[in-house]
Amino acid sequence: MTTKAIFSPIQVGKHQLQHRIVLAPLTRLRATLEAVPTDLQTEYYEQRASPGGLLIAEATFISHYAWKKVTSAVHAKKGVIFLQIAHLGRAGSKQFHPNGKQVGSSSDVVIPGENYMGPPFETPKPFTVKEIQSTIQDYRQAALNAIEAGFDGVEVHAANGVLIDQFIDSSVNTRADEYGGSIQNRARFALEVLSSIVETIGPNRVAIRFSPDGKMHGMGDATPIETWSYLTTQIQNLFPELAYLHFIEARGDVYGETSNVHDSLTPYRSLWKGPFITSGGFSNSLEQAFQIAEQTGNLISFGRIFIANPDLPQRLLNGVPLTPYDRSTFYTHDAEGYTDYPNFSKHT
Ligand SMILES: Cc1cc2nc3c(=O)[nH]c(=O)nc-3n(C[C@H](O)[C@H](O)[C@H](O)COP(=O)(O)O)c2cc1C
Repeated sequence: MTTKAIFSPIQVGKHQLQHRIVLAPLTRLRATLEAVPTDLQTEYYEQRASPGGLLIAEATFISHYAWKKVTSAVHAKKGVIFLQIAHLGRAGSKQFHPNGKQVGSSSDVVIPGENYMGPPFETPKPFTVKEIQSTIQDYRQAALNAIEAGFDGVEVHAANGVLIDQFIDSSVNTRADEYGGSIQNRARFALEVLSSIVETIGPNRVAIRFSPDGKMHGMGDATPIETWSYLTTQIQNLFPELAYLHFIEARGDVYGETSNVHDSLTPYRSLWKGPFITSGGFSNSLEQAFQIAEQTGNLISFGRIFIANPDLPQRLLNGVPLTPYDRSTFYTHDAEGYTDYPNFSKHT
């Protein structure tokens, strides 16, 4: 028996997890064009479920749900599954909006550079306060829908340059009202979204994901430590019973194969007393992941190696070599590179 911290139980929300190896939220584009989940997705999540293991399902736009089959399949294996709920803001496109509506954000600042993943970035329309309030209601409804679809909770996506990040980040948010300017004002939208969801489904089914040093989608806050320390402190004070906080370690090269070089999340870990998930880059530096779990008691979420190793917790526990991932099938639309990675038990 191993005594490694990463294989030890931990309480998350109402759930007693059996280990701390978490499936990171991963967009894989296997839903229908109407964003309805497919049987392929049921199979994918079922394959990655383990007793007392936490899965975070991919970023989902805050409407359209038909996830019941997925959540039932994961629960049948005694797994726990949260849904990441997301609004892309300026990282979206009018092409994906049913009415071709202009994208909205905190301000009219367009993402610099080229979009390698889709249509060119568009100039967003700054939300009015009324639109901010109705978007908060959309998040609330999305959380309710997720619970109705059988999810154990929701993770609010506030990382990687999505809408909430666009309010938090000083390089994007140029508003002069109560949602812009000071750190307190830029954090307001995130905290109001949390408050509305917590009121609706209870704190222990709610989590949030941040990426303080992330550069994805043109992010670049001037004082990340101050900004996310304020947010963490407020969350600790206002919502101490949230299921977990999920922080992404910044990688210099988001799309590359590099490992982490440092641990930048200590300031936030020290402010939050509940479960903390560390993510980012550990697919290429397992030893560091084990070390962080050992030193901090954190859960660790894995992305790329969980794609290629559906039985990742079992493999890590048994020291079984990992199947390498194939980046070329991350965003394709069929079973190849999605549900055809083998379990080790079937092949040894
Ligand atoms: C194919 C792919 C899709 C991703 N989609 C999301 C997403 O929907 N939401 C999110 O917060 N992060 C997303 N990420 C980031 C991962 O959750 C994770 O933080 C990242 O892969 C780093 O972990 P790793 O080194 O274990 O892969 C994605 C990453 C990859 C590779």
